[in-house]
Amino acid sequence: MGEKRSQWASNVGFILAAAGSAVGLGNIWKFPGKVGAYGGGAFILCYIIIVAFIGFPVMLAELSIGRKTQKNLVGAFHQLNKKWTFAGGIGVLTLFVIMSYYCIVGGWVLKYVWVYLTGGHFGTGENAYQNYFAEFISEPIQPLVLGVVFMAICIFVIVKGVSSGIERVSKVLMPALFILLIAIVIRALTLPGAMEGVKFMLEIDPASISGNTLVGALGQAFFSLSVGMGIIVTYGSYVPKTENLVKSATWICVLDTLVAILAAFAIIPIVFVTLGADGLGMGGGFAFMALPEVFASLPGGTIVGLVFFVLLFLAALTSAISILESCVAFLTEEFHISRLKATLILAVPMFLLGAGYSLSQSDARGINLPWFDFSNGLQMLPMNAVMEKFTDNLMIPLGALLFCLFVGWVWGAKNAAREIEGDGAHKFALKKPWSFIVRFLAPLVIVIILYFTLGRGEGLS
Ligand code: PFF
Repeated sequence: MGEKRSQWASNVGFILAAAGSAVGLGNIWKFPGKVGAYGGGAFILCYIIIVAFIGFPVMLAELSIGRKTQKNLVGAFHQLNKKWTFAGGIGVLTLFVIMSYYCIVGGWVLKYVWVYLTGGHFGTGENAYQNYFAEFISEPIQPLVLGVVFMAICIFVIVKGVSSGIERVSKVLMPALFILLIAIVIRALTLPGAMEGVKFMLEIDPASISGNTLVGALGQAFFSLSVGMGIIVTYGSYVPKTENLVKSATWICVLDTLVAILAAFAIIPIVFVTLGADGLGMGGGFAFMALPEVFASLPGGTIVGLVFFVLLFLAALTSAISILESCVAFLTEEFHISRLKATLILAVPMFLLGAGYSLSQSDARGINLPWFDFSNGLQMLPMNAVMEKFTDNLMIPLGALLFCLFVGWVWGAKNAAREIEGDGAHKFALKKPWSFIVRFLAPLVIVIILYFTLGRGEGLS
C-alpha cells in the first residue's frame, strides 16, 4: 500500500492506448464482414448512430468510475458500493474468457504474417485456402506455439508498466496501424471496379434495416469500443484528474469508428472486385480463408496480404494488452503482488484455456479434448467461436447493463457527472441527455438486445 499508482504520462498517450484497445480484430475483421452481411450503408448508419447515442455515453460512464476511484475494476466498484463488487468481478471474468480465445486467434494472425513473409503460398487446387486454414488450426502444436508467442509479447509490454510499456507501444503502433490501413484503402480504391463496393457502402436502403441489423450493430459497437467489460474503467483509472473525459471519450469513439469504416473501405471493394457481392457473406473464416484467396487474385497481392495481416496483428496486440492489463491491475492492487507475478498467474491459465479450444479442433491428429468440443451440436463451430458468442452476446451486454444501472441509479448520475466535469474544471454540456441515456435508454436497449439474442436461442449459435 501507499505505493504511487500508475498514470498515463500524456493525454495523447491515454487516447492512443484506449483507441488501441478499441481498435482490434473487431474493427478490421468483424466490422467489414457485418457491413457485408447486414446490407452495407444501412448498417454503417445504424452503427454510427448507436456508437454516438449508446456506446459513447456508456464509455463516459465507465471512465467516470475509473477516474473517480483510481482503482482496478473490482476495487473501483467495491469503493463506490461494496454490494456491487460483483459487477467488477463479472468484468474480470469476461476479460479472462475473451483473452483465452484472443491469444489463440492472435497466434493465427502471426502464422499468416509468416506465410506472407515467406511468399504467400497456400497450396493449389479447389478450396486450397479453406483447406490450408482448417489444417493449420487442427494441428496440435503450431497454433499453440504461436499463441504462446503472442501471449509472451503481451506479457513483455504489460510488465514494463502502464506509461513505459502500454503507452509507449501504443504511441508507435497506432499511427503505424493507421498508415498501413490507408495503404490498403488506396490499393483497394484504385482497383478497376472498386466503385461498386463503395456504392454498396454508401447506398442506404432503409428496407434493409431490421431488428437483426440493430442487434448486430449494438453488439458490434460494444465489442469494438471495448465497453461493457471494464477495460475503460481500468484505463480511466490511470487518467489524471485534470484531463477532460468528454474530449477523450469523443476521440476514442471517433478513432475506433474511423478505423472500422476505413477497414470496410479497404476490404469490401476488394471483395466486390474479385468475388462480387456474394463474396461478402463469408462469415467467420473471412479473414483467414476468403481474404487470402482474394489477395492472391490481385496484382501485388502478396504485399497487400502481408500489410493486412501485420495490421491485424498490431490491432490484436494492443487490444489483448488492454484485456490482460485490466486483469493484472486487479491482482496487483487487491492482492499486492508484483506485475510480473500477476501477469504470469493470469496469462498461464488464460493460455491453457485457449489451448483447450485449440486442441479440441485437432481430432484429425488424434488429440482431442472432448470436454471442450462443442462442435458436433453446433455444426462444427469451433470452441473459440462458441466462447466468442458467449462473451459477445451475453457477458458484454450484461456488463454494459450493470455499469449503466450502477452509474445511473446506484452511485448516481449526478456524482458521475461531477467526476466527468472534473469538479467544475470542464463544461459537460450534454449532462442531461447523457444522464437520461445512462439511466433509461441504454439499459432499455441492452435488455431488448439480450432478449433478441438469448430469447431466440441465438446466444451460442
Ligand atoms: N475492442 C476490441 C476489438 O474491436 O477487437 C476487442 C476487445 C478489446 C474486446 C478489449 C474486449 C476487450 F476487453
